[in-house]
Amino acid sequence: MEVVALSSDLEVATVAADVIESIVRRHPEAVVGLATGSTPGPTYRELIRRHQSDQGPDYDRVQVFILDEYVGLAPNHPKSYRQTIARELTDDLGLAPDRVHGPDMSDVREAGSRYESKITGVGGIDIQLLGIGTDGHLAFNEPGSSLASLTRLKTLTPETRRDNARFFACSEDVPRHAITQGLGTIQRARQLLLIATGAAKAGAIAAAVEGPLTSSCPASVIQLHPHATVLVDFDAASGLRRLEYYRHVYETKPDWKSI
Ligand code: GLP
Repeated sequence: MEVVALSSDLEVATVAADVIESIVRRHPEAVVGLATGSTPGPTYRELIRRHQSDQGPDYDRVQVFILDEYVGLAPNHPKSYRQTIARELTDDLGLAPDRVHGPDMSDVREAGSRYESKITGVGGIDIQLLGIGTDGHLAFNEPGSSLASLTRLKTLTPETRRDNARFFACSEDVPRHAITQGLGTIQRARQLLLIATGAAKAGAIAAAVEGPLTSSCPASVIQLHPHATVLVDFDAASGLRRLEYYRHVYETKPDWKSI
């Protein structure tokens, strides 16, 4: 695992956009897994800025899979993650809606297994962008989630519902359940890129990166992945004991070694 500590959320966005773009340039038909939430916002805006100023690659042949989706919101609900990702990124990158996939909520009982088949059917995810919850959750895999779990229904913790209340008119509107890629599903992506910014994420990042591998911190599962990178700003990095070493590694990285 590589940990890169950067001076600001904008620098995190720049490096994250570089990584995603380099994969799309190498594989114009890349399968890209995307996260929602506030953290990826600057990265998405940077990808759009470059695309619209003709600096970015062509995304026409890319396929996108979102990490998770709320249960109980209509497909066209503005707060659904499917609508959110279209509004915040894929529409502006010119991706056709049928290339942007989320769990099919028409039958919640089947949504998990169908989503797994869909991901496998396209050959798996090339790069998965991830955020992290303040309780260490990944996608909507709350503490206690099996490290081998596949896409399924999860019940949100009160902490996650509180954190996400800012996106809704009132806290009662936050759904109680979600269909989420499992920790095992996420592990199958060929590359993981976890981004975190702000002091509120410092504890979760320290636990995920330097704590024990445990379902009590679902994000710690990235320790098992052969190609995982964590991009953090200095605030989110502030709980890391080996921060000096990570900075030294990044500063002395050979030119030929990309993220
Ligand atoms: C939600 C999403 C996660 C995201 C997390 C953190 O719970 N399901 O994928 O990583 O929020 O969100 P934020 O980036 O807004 O802190």
